[in-house]
Amino acid sequence: MSNIDFSAYTDSVVNAIGPKASPRVKQAFPILIRKIHEFLIEADVTTEEWMEACNLMVEAGAISSEKRNEVVLVTDVLGIESLVNTLDQTRVQRKAANGVANSSAKENPTDSAILGPFYRSGVPVQPNGTCIIRQDEPGAPYTHLFGTIYGADGKPLPNALVDIWHDAPDGFYDAQSPEKPEYHCRGRFKTDAEGRYSTVCLRPTAYPIPFDHSAGKLLQMMDRHPYRPAHIHFWIEADGHKTLVTQIFDSDSDYLTDDAVFAVRDKLIVYFQPISKDYTPPKECEGKMKFELQQDFHLQKAE
Ligand code: BEZ
Ligand code: FE
Repeated sequence: MSNIDFSAYTDSVVNAIGPKASPRVKQAFPILIRKIHEFLIEADVTTEEWMEACNLMVEAGAISSEKRNEVVLVTDVLGIESLVNTLDQTRVQRKAANGVANSSAKENPTDSAILGPFYRSGVPVQPNGTCIIRQDEPGAPYTHLFGTIYGADGKPLPNALVDIWHDAPDGFYDAQSPEKPEYHCRGRFKTDAEGRYSTVCLRPTAYPIPFDHSAGKLLQMMDRHPYRPAHIHFWIEADGHKTLVTQIFDSDSDYLTDDAVFAVRDKLIVYFQPISKDYTPPKECEGKMKFELQQDFHLQKAE
């Protein structure tokens, strides 16, 4: 690197990629290497800073487990998971706009949002209309949540899987609190012949993402708070369609404009309404119902 020829140096690293690398590596790694080198040079990164970053990732990996992925959490606070999610959701439309693909550009699918760390597989399917609040939550805003799942042709989709999860009033998910009953504020449903699902859940509350480790360290360094606006997660699966992973956000919540993980999309902000007098809740929810929310979803064709 005589005469500090940074650009020749970066070229030499890019050119070291061998002929047997996959087409994707050959396409993406030169971009990755060039952008990282550009950042290091422009920010004039020191050895101490580089080691600090490496140690942060080592620590994040070391405390990660099946129950907690701190590395993903680090990417979340840097806006990476949300950006990748948007790229995934818009890939077909972007290619169509560039004339690379035709098709589903005309579809108007529901926006997706990040999965987050609290998804759980294997949750049993329960009948439509039943409640996902598995222990009494005195005074909590019980909510009738219902809607229709539409396919790419605009018709209601029967037998679609609708997986729903949100935090309890204390701001924690079931898996974060051993004292909570299994699947508290979490449940799976199958849409009926008219593509409809329904349940009783709670109007969720804003909560902090786990900030006791590497992600929290980063937030502190950047003088940022760890809170997410109140939201409900959905995972919707149907034959012939792309699985939709998304969240809806309470219009009355704090942090809509400064979500710690940058997942809010305008079209995913929803308005809870007072519960209709005509609604008959499941027995265990009688006298507790406060709100209702109709939330329909539009899926896109499988790629
Ligand atoms: C969540 O919404 O559950 C979540 C997303 C990203 C990081 C932490 C939590
Ligand atoms: Fe969440």
